[in-house]
Amino acid sequence: MYTGFKHLHSTIALVLLIVFAVVLVIHIIGYMTSADYSKGHRVSSLIGLIAAHLQLLVGLGLYFMSPLGISNLSGETMKDSMGRLYALEHPLIGIIAIALITVGYSRAKRAAASRQKYATITVFYALGLVLILSRIPWQTWALIN
Ligand code: HEM
Ligand code: HEM
Repeated sequence: MYTGFKHLHSTIALVLLIVFAVVLVIHIIGYMTSADYSKGHRVSSLIGLIAAHLQLLVGLGLYFMSPLGISNLSGETMKDSMGRLYALEHPLIGIIAIALITVGYSRAKRAAASRQKYATITVFYALGLVLILSRIPWQTWALIN
């Protein structure tokens, strides 16, 4: 179960990074060309939201299964940068990033003007992505090492 969740979390991470890159590029182009906000744009931002929410759910599960998650939270762990990254920084910043992405998605859904939709998705998704990128355990990510 733990191994399965770990593989799933790692695979969704890769999908999420690719989807977010695509969503950002097409929303920035849409903003710059002042094109009408299309169904394709809406669906792309929805796929990004679903990838982020799925990752949150799997990540939360993993947090309670992994030896690097809640079971490793202690004062000693805080002195070790890798331990602190897994047990605290990665999950906490990940949750904040996904909350920002959700706020962006729902604000864009309510916005009336196309340009406002493009701008809202671009700003919130980019902020979320930067936060996520800043706290991925790059040195130990099995999929890319
Ligand atoms: C810990 C688990 C989760 C939490 C806390 C959560 C939270 C939320 C919240 C607060 C919204 C409202 C956004 C809005 O205002 O429109 C939302 C919407 C949504 N979530 Fe999640 N979610 C979770 C897991 C999932 C999962 C596992 C999926 C799908 C695989 C998912 C798919 C969606 C979709 C499709 C929407 C609505 C998009 C729309 O309004 O068109 N979520 N979620
Ligand atoms: C925001 C999006 C997120 C991304 C892109 C992401 C990505 C990753 C990646 C790439 C790894 C390394 C996997 C490996 O080495 O095979 C990882 C590990 C981990 N993540 Fe996330 N994560 C996210 C959110 C979360 C959240 C919200 C939580 C918990 C609440 C979480 C909990 C964990 C845990 C506990 C591990 C360590 C698993 C282990 O090696 O035992 N992640 N994550």
